[in-house]
Amino acid sequence: MRIPIIAGNWKMNTNVDEAIRLVESMLDGLEAVPGVERVLCPPFVSLTYVSDLLVETSIRLGAQNMYPADKGAYTGEISPGMLKGLCQYVILGHSERRQYFGETDEFVNRKVHTALTHDLVPIICIGETLAENEAGQTAAVVTRQARGVLAGLNGDQVSRVVMAYEPIWAIGTGRPATGEGANQVIGLIREVAAGLAGPGPAQALRIQYGGSVTGDNAAEFMGQPEIDGALVGGASLKADQFVRIVQTTAQAKGV
Ligand code: PGA
Repeated sequence: MRIPIIAGNWKMNTNVDEAIRLVESMLDGLEAVPGVERVLCPPFVSLTYVSDLLVETSIRLGAQNMYPADKGAYTGEISPGMLKGLCQYVILGHSERRQYFGETDEFVNRKVHTALTHDLVPIICIGETLAENEAGQTAAVVTRQARGVLAGLNGDQVSRVVMAYEPIWAIGTGRPATGEGANQVIGLIREVAAGLAGPGPAQALRIQYGGSVTGDNAAEFMGQPEIDGALVGGASLKADQFVRIVQTTAQAKGV
């Protein structure tokens, strides 16, 4: 059975004080739901502080990005070695990274390999644009992206990574996909993974849905068999909403 995983992507929000307060306001609520893997992804500068707060808890920490080199002259970038010891997860290939910083599937794939080498679990994001969706290209786009970001991974690695299907038109718009629609695309991603790494690793691979998930609509997604959790943006900045999403996930998955 795949352990459900809910990750909060705080994006470029909260200073250190705000990050500490936000964690403190959700800690007890999150701790009460151990059957779901819970991951917080605050901005880089807050990772150390949040890590200290999470030390004796079952809540995991993730970064929002990483550069695919061990060290060197890459001004402003953060290496996997800097994250290791602080974080267990790292979000890679988020659509905002692709859109504003020109990241490609090939570059994201390099990051995935580097993260795994350093024992960081990547949460790898893919998803189609509104134009692609409306042109009926979702399956083709998502298949191409999944093949690209998973290229060269062996079965063991595919079973360890987390993927997030995030249709770009659903991110931050208050206009989520339907549970059924997301379930169908995520099933397709699992088929692509099976084609690359075999059915066993594809069955172990956890795939989240992301895009305007809230406490109100989480049940629709978590009730779907292919959907193993959520990558949550806006609602992860509200303690009550984020805790409710985790609680709803535990109920829907029976954990
Ligand atoms: P959202 O963001 O929940 O605010 O739509 C999701 C994401 O970008 O991961």
